[in-house]
Amino acid sequence: MERLTGKVAVVTGASRGIGRAVAIRLAAEGAAVAVNYRADRGSAESLVTELSGRGARAMAFQADVSEPDQIGQLMDSAAQALGGLDILVSNAGIEHFGPLEDITPADFDRVFATNTRGQLFAVQHAARHLGPGGRIVLTSSISAHKSVFHHTLYAASKAAVEAMALNLAAELGQRQITINAIAPGGTNTDMSAKATPHYIHPDLPLDRDTAVKVMSALGRFAEPDEIAATVAFLVSDDADYITGRTIPIDGGWF
Ligand SMILES: NC(=O)c1ccc[n+]([C@@H]2O[C@H](COP(=O)([O-])OP(=O)(O)OC[C@H]3O[C@@H](n4cnc5c(N)ncnc54)[C@H](OP(=O)(O)O)[C@@H]3O)[C@@H](O)[C@H]2O)c1
Repeated sequence: MERLTGKVAVVTGASRGIGRAVAIRLAAEGAAVAVNYRADRGSAESLVTELSGRGARAMAFQADVSEPDQIGQLMDSAAQALGGLDILVSNAGIEHFGPLEDITPADFDRVFATNTRGQLFAVQHAARHLGPGGRIVLTSSISAHKSVFHHTLYAASKAAVEAMALNLAAELGQRQITINAIAPGGTNTDMSAKATPHYIHPDLPLDRDTAVKVMSALGRFAEPDEIAATVAFLVSDDADYITGRTIPIDGGWF
């Protein structure tokens, strides 16, 4: 199980949801983990306590990934405190739903600042510390591939991330660093609890559970640790020859 012994990982947005599950999984596989959070210091610190109690090395780092300077400080502080950097899991993200006529330039800037710009500069700053064998996983979404009513801004912010993975793979590959993206489907987190009602078109007479059942092969949402399992594979030596790709983890969403 300990595929990541001796590695140091930064996980952005690790105080809750998928990021938290990723931090737990990477620590269980032997990595030292920098738990990044934006606002929820209590949750980040309690995760660090939990990981330390299981014998892992972990530290919490506050940084808002929508601020490029803070991303730089995050990578530098984590590398200094934990002894280098081998893995970036860029997970932090925010939702947006709204019809075209309601989208404002401020909405656009806010969503892209976190979901898109935040991920590009996380790669740029992490890459300063990564050596050969370094691993980067970005977070897209099934939304980049499936049309959903009123979801344009979020979907576009995630589609751009897949293009980043594809194109940065060539640059980073010269240094034997891999970069991939994951595209999760509906996953049981705070984000999806708020967003799911919007996913169902107002004219579709389906409740949430029925919609999930008929729209996906497995008929259910993912649990965060199921997403974390694929991330752990992608950052391990087992995924040495996978780069530039986006891996769907969506239970067979139609
Ligand atoms: N859940 C799904 O169904 C689903 C599906 C596809 C893709 N995704 C993507 O997966 C990722 C994780 O989603 P989730 O469902 O776990 O979300 P979540 O439950 O809302 O958790 C979001 C996490 O990101 C952090 N965060 C948000 N903005 C940040 C910022 N500017 N700087 C640093 N951290 C920030 C939050 O920190 P604080 O608690 O400190 O605010 C929190 O830890 C996101 O990129 C999301 O778009 C989720």
